Amino acid sequence: MSLRIVQITDTHLSRDPDGVLAGVATWKTFNAVLRQIERRHADFDYLVLTGDLAQDEALETYQMLREALGEWLHRLRIIPGNHDAPANLRAVFPELFPRAEGPLTFTLSNAEWKIIGLDSHLPGDVKGRIDAGQLEWLRGELCAAPDLPSLLFVHHPPVAINVAWIDKLGLHDPDDLIGIIEGSPQIKAVCAGHVHQEFCGQIGAAAVFTTPSTCVQFSARAEKAFDTRAAGYRTFRLEESCQTEVHRLSDS
Ligand SMILES: [Fe+2]
Ligand SMILES: [Fe+2]
Repeated sequence: MSLRIVQITDTHLSRDPDGVLAGVATWKTFNAVLRQIERRHADFDYLVLTGDLAQDEALETYQMLREALGEWLHRLRIIPGNHDAPANLRAVFPELFPRAEGPLTFTLSNAEWKIIGLDSHLPGDVKGRIDAGQLEWLRGELCAAPDLPSLLFVHHPPVAINVAWIDKLGLHDPDDLIGIIEGSPQIKAVCAGHVHQEFCGQIGAAAVFTTPSTCVQFSARAEKAFDTRAAGYRTFRLEESCQTEVHRLSDS
């Protein structure tokens, strides 16, 4: 039985429906992405939002996001990015985050795959961190199903993407997470956001993917610059292997 997942990342929404980030009207491109998913991938099993959801981190913005996702809420999972307010995510999505404290993680599984979402949000910091407690939790989740092919989602990619200014803004102390991934051959892929561009890399047996933002795209050049490519998202089809593809609004 295959599992179909859609990843949306770095929506950078604000409570102003006409809000603009670096010249891009973020609600407009986000809504266009939702419409394209509706047309082309509406049969997904899960929609995973991988952080930087609200540029203003406002409660009202998360309420507007919840409203926009409509009937997809029961198939939704969320992890936070640096541009998120965990307390407001808990308040607006209580069914996803029933606990009053602790990291905003998730796990999903069927008979053939396990999906794990990590929380790399570090208050007051653009960079991220997976703390010791969460690493221990991750080890436990992996040990509980060592033969189940697994997919990890995390906002900050654990490896450099070879874009100097962005690579300075990755995870603090990524080595322990990298060590867990290297020691867990059931992890087939690690999927991130944060870098606003598509990238493919490798940690041990796991492919590492990053995904375009639904709004502003960053250039793959070394210096800070924007890219004119259209907003995008990523789909996964998990069968015997993990098949994944980036889609952009210009595709439709
Ligand atoms: Fe972002
Ligand atoms: Fe980010």
